[in-house]
Amino acid sequence: MLHAASLRDRLSACVPGGVATKNLFVTRAENSELWDTEGRRYVDFAAGIAVLNTGHRHPRVLEAVSKQMELFTHTCFHVAPYESYLRLAERLNALTPGSFDKKTMLVSTGAEAVENAVKIARSATRRPAVIAFSGAFHGRTQLGMALTGKISPYKKGFGSAPAGIFHAPFPNYSQGMTQARALEDLQRLFICDVDPTDVAAIIIEPVQGEGGFNVAPPEFLRALRGLADQHGIVLIADEIQSGIGRTGKLFAIEHANVVPDLITAAKGLAGGFPLAAITGRASVMDAAQPGGLGGTFAGSPIGIAAAHAVLDVVNDEKLCERASRIGERTRDLLSNLARDVPAIGDIRGIGAMQALELVKDRATREPDAALTAKVVADAQARGLILLSCGTSANVIRLLPPLTISDSVLAEGLKILDASIRAVA
Ligand SMILES: Cc1ncc(COP(=O)(O)O)c(C=O)c1O
Repeated sequence: MLHAASLRDRLSACVPGGVATKNLFVTRAENSELWDTEGRRYVDFAAGIAVLNTGHRHPRVLEAVSKQMELFTHTCFHVAPYESYLRLAERLNALTPGSFDKKTMLVSTGAEAVENAVKIARSATRRPAVIAFSGAFHGRTQLGMALTGKISPYKKGFGSAPAGIFHAPFPNYSQGMTQARALEDLQRLFICDVDPTDVAAIIIEPVQGEGGFNVAPPEFLRALRGLADQHGIVLIADEIQSGIGRTGKLFAIEHANVVPDLITAAKGLAGGFPLAAITGRASVMDAAQPGGLGGTFAGSPIGIAAAHAVLDVVNDEKLCERASRIGERTRDLLSNLARDVPAIGDIRGIGAMQALELVKDRATREPDAALTAKVVADAQARGLILLSCGTSANVIRLLPPLTISDSVLAEGLKILDASIRAVA
C-alpha cells in the first residue's frame, strides 16, 4: 500500500525541487474525478492543466489508442511515415481558422510547438526577432522561456535569454494596461528597440493561461493582424491552453474573427497523450528546408490515434456548446460569490476557461497571493483540485473537463464556494 507521506519523502529525495508538485499522489482517474493513495476522491478542476477537455480515460480515446497499439507504437515518422498523421494534418488544416491553403506538422509538447512555430516564421521571413507579451507563457525550453513574460519561477536563475526576443505589454485591465496603451507601447517598441522589418513573428495567447486567464480584446487581436500585414510579420496564435473547445469554439481566436498565420495546439489535442501541432499558411509552413523540422517522437502514432478520437468526441458530444454552458454556470456562481466576498477583485474568461482574481482591496487591486494559496489548499482538503495562475499568483483558474456531468460540476462549484467563503 502506497502512502502519501512516504511518497513525499521519496519525491524530495529523488526528484529535483524545481519540479514542483501538488501535495497528493494519484492512483486512478475517471472523467472529472480522481482518487489518491489514501482513497480520497477529488473533483478535478485542473484536468491535467487543460489537457483533459475530453475527461480522464475517455472510452473512445482509450479504444483508439489500444487499436493503434495492436498495429505499431513507433516507427519515427521520418523513417516510416503513416497515413494517420496525414489525416490529422488534413483535419487540422480544415478545422483551424483561415480559408487559405494550410499545412500541419506534429510534435510532442506545447513548448516544442512554440519552438517550431518560431523556427518556421524565422525561416519564412528570414528575419530574427520575435515579439511576445507580458504575462505570456510559452513553455520551459530556452526559447519558450525567453518568450514567456513572467520571471519567477520560469526564468529566474536560468541564464540569459536567446537574442531577438522582445516583450510588449498585454492589454491587462486588472493591471491598468488599456488596449490603447498596449498598442502605443508596441509602436514604441518598433521605434526604440526593434525595426518591424526585422520582426519574424508576433506570438500571442488569445486568452493567456498561466498569465491569469487574461482575454485579449478582439480589437487588439485585429490591430495585431493589421500590424502583421503591414510589416510582413507572421502572426502566431498560441492556443496550447485555450484551444480544442475550451472557450466554446475550437480555437479561442475565432471569437475575435481574426485569422492567424500559424496556430499552435497541444494539451487538449490528444486527451492525455503527448501530441502538439503547428498549423498554418502553406507558404509559411513550407519555408524550412527538408530535414529542418521534426524529431524522433514528433507525431507519435499513439498520440495521433488519440487526437482523432478527441476531435470526433469534441464534435459528436458537442463539447464547444458544453464549454459555453459550463462557463455560464461557473460565471453565475462566481458572480454571486463576488457580491458577498470583497476579496474577489475580478472574474474573467470565456467559455469553460473562467478565473477569479483575489485581491487585498478592491479599490487598489493589490494582489493576494497568500489568500489564493489558502483557497487552493482548503479546496483540496474538501476534495476539489484547483490551480492558481497569474503574474502575481493571485488568480484561481477553473479548467474542468468539458465532459464533466452537471452533478459533478455543481459539486465542484459548491466546494469552491465553501472554500472561498471559509477562507476569504
Ligand atoms: C499557452 C501555452 N503555451 C505553451 C505551453 C507549453 O506547453 P508544454 O508544457 O506542453 O511544453 C503551455 C503550457 O502550459 C501553454 O499554456
